[in-house]
Amino acid sequence: MNSPSPLTIDVSLGARSYPVWIGRGLLGDAERWRARLRGRHVLVVSNTTVAPLYLDRVTRGLDGLRWSQHLIGDGEAHKSFANVEHALGALAALGATRDACVLALGGGVVGDLAGFAAACWMRGIDFIQMPTTLLAMVDSSVGGKTGVNLPAGKNLVGAFHQPRAVVADIDTLATLPVREYRAGLAEVVKGAAIGDEAFFAWLETHVDALNAQDAAAVIAAIARKVRYKAGVVARDETEHGERALLNFGHTFGHALETVGHYTTLLHGEGVAIGMLLEARLSERLGMSQGADTERLRRLLARLGLPVTVPPGMPPDALLAAMRLDKKNLAGQLRLVLWHGIGGCEIVNGIAETDVLAVLHEAITAA
Ligand code: NAD
Ligand code: GLY
Repeated sequence: MNSPSPLTIDVSLGARSYPVWIGRGLLGDAERWRARLRGRHVLVVSNTTVAPLYLDRVTRGLDGLRWSQHLIGDGEAHKSFANVEHALGALAALGATRDACVLALGGGVVGDLAGFAAACWMRGIDFIQMPTTLLAMVDSSVGGKTGVNLPAGKNLVGAFHQPRAVVADIDTLATLPVREYRAGLAEVVKGAAIGDEAFFAWLETHVDALNAQDAAAVIAAIARKVRYKAGVVARDETEHGERALLNFGHTFGHALETVGHYTTLLHGEGVAIGMLLEARLSERLGMSQGADTERLRRLLARLGLPVTVPPGMPPDALLAAMRLDKKNLAGQLRLVLWHGIGGCEIVNGIAETDVLAVLHEAITAA
């Protein structure tokens, strides 16, 4: 039976358009998502934490199909080439034909890896994203970026491969650790901060509801962020322009994650601190006002996100990590800078002295 009308956002990409369904009870609503399958073969990819919690809800809906499951270990280290090869082996063992579909049940790690395996099998088969973290619901499951890490760095290998549908069942958030939930909120704030002032104001008035994980507020926040991202992706699917703006907070954020060896901060936490550092850099360069930075800081703090640079992160090490950012061009730093709430732009050739000054100031103030 269908669950009561989920909120639906369409990602408009011509023949490759797809719905993002956001609501409750959606994993068990097989009638809805099975309508997006084209063939008889299904491989469900999940991990060892999520599968015991939610795999049954999905596999109950697979009656009459030829399906199997493939589980990976939990954690970023498992977003590897070796695991793509194992997933492809599972597709081979299933006898998957070109109309087969991969179901990605989990957070961003599972979604990125399973999507990449789908992009590779027979040069591209369907996949459906079934995100179970807030971060995956509001960001990684939408837009078709798939891929894996290499020892040389994160997300260095991948493909743009859009899903056939995204099934964001917020019931799964009940078991998500609260720190992971808050990290997902950082990506929600990012969307509002760079592109939607009214949404930012809405977040400010719904902090208590979001902290309490009130279902209506959570659905509304996911929907608004997904609608914003879907618009950006529809206009710039393969990141030749506007899509790069989604990296606000990510240059400093990735550097913080790297220098913390991916153990100190979750991705969303790095983005929260990174947004504030990029806001301060924008202020320093005369592009935004201190009052906006303070509004951003206050909202992030009220949502339980870190707003200061953790100890043990020297500015020189952070700058060295920033020099390796994928956005840089011709050896020069290239960052998304802020015009205050609701606007931003990408700026080339940022002086390292300005970056270091912002880092020193932030570390002294912390
Ligand atoms: P994750 O997939 O590692 O999930 C976080 C943790 O929550 C894991 O331990 C996971 O097992 C657990 N978990 C997941 N769902 C759960 C649930 N419902 N209940 C209990 N535990 C649950 O991390 P993430 O934050 O979802 O995703 C991060 C990944 O996403 C990174 O690899 C990042 O590079 C990628 N990413 C991709 C894009 C994109 O556009 N493709 C965008 C942002 C991030
Ligand atoms: N998370 C950034 C993007 O999808 O482009």
